[in-house]
Amino acid sequence: MIRAGVRPGDRQAKARGDVVASVTDLLLGQGVKARDLGAAEAAFASYLGCLESLQPKVQKELAASEDALARQAGREAAAACNRALARYLYKKNNDRRDPTLPQGVAGYQEEDFARALKLASAGADEQVTFHNYVFYSYIEVLAFRRWPVGNHYVVRSGVPRRLLLRQPPGLAAKLLWTLAGGRGNHPYFELHYNPHRLRLFNPEGWRCVFELTAGLMGVFGDIKGVFGVSWFFDPKLASLSPELGFLRRQVEEVGGRFFVADTTKDHIENALKMSRARRAAYKAGRYRPACYLALVPRAALLRHFRLG
Ligand SMILES: CC(C)(COP(=O)(O)OP(=O)(O)OC[C@H]1O[C@@H](n2cnc3c(N)ncnc32)[C@H](O)[C@@H]1OP(=O)(O)O)[C@@H](O)C(=O)NCCC(=O)NCCS
Repeated sequence: MIRAGVRPGDRQAKARGDVVASVTDLLLGQGVKARDLGAAEAAFASYLGCLESLQPKVQKELAASEDALARQAGREAAAACNRALARYLYKKNNDRRDPTLPQGVAGYQEEDFARALKLASAGADEQVTFHNYVFYSYIEVLAFRRWPVGNHYVVRSGVPRRLLLRQPPGLAAKLLWTLAGGRGNHPYFELHYNPHRLRLFNPEGWRCVFELTAGLMGVFGDIKGVFGVSWFFDPKLASLSPELGFLRRQVEEVGGRFFVADTTKDHIENALKMSRARRAAYKAGRYRPACYLALVPRAALLRHFRLG
């Protein structure tokens, strides 16, 4: 409602001025020196722009703004600006957490809000950086761009269309058919592994990931399905790492399908990190980590949990 005597332009300028003043206070409170404020304010504005743009996977852009600030004002100022961003998002959003989220997700979200604040206040400068995936994840949780579903997170994303070209002929048609069934390749939930909830990395925890994701789809009616890419969906692991077999089995149980995906250097490192047997097989040329895409259409997942 427009109050008599106050023009909309004036009100917007005042609102902008209020934000700038409070951001300045926040940055000064976080130890950014007055002479570095301009660069820190610019980084802060670019952070918020990235987080509000709804583009998936903005870690690189956020890290680039952080690096630009660090070049002008030093790493310490960059970390202080990152801490201020986390505190700002916590203050702004902690009371706005969605009460209609499935109970399990709401509980993990509350836990993650507290962990994010702790990391921002007590973490070392080397941790409070967008080059650290954990800090980046928490910022996305605070900004309501990422939801914890047990040992994984989900983010809004799209199934990369270039994967159609990676499939052998039969699978290309199946992937096209699956995407056509949902009328497009986005928005989907994309699964991301969460190293902080490793204790839940077991069959029960994996089932919970899908159950909570199905519940979240009730809140986000436009989501067409859920997908994830990992080396642990590789069918060749059946003999080498049978303890991981439940990961593929349960995707199939909830109505999912597998497709070929790209394998990066990071995936190979992850696949070899925890297992002597996989490292030995790799050295002997008997195992080459390969990533697969697991994709569960919305209708199938909701049907499985009797939510559709
Ligand atoms: C994904 C991950 C958490 C799975 O861990 P896990 O459930 O313990 O399964 P792993 O196959 O990796 O097991 C590691 C070792 O513990 C052993 N192990 C696992 N479960 C076991 C059990 N219940 N009893 C005895 N040994 C067990 C495995 O045999 C394996 O050793 P080996 O292969 O030399 O025999 C782990 O591999 C990891 O942290 N990887 C790096 C991060 C990563 O890849 N994340 C996913 C990104 S998509």
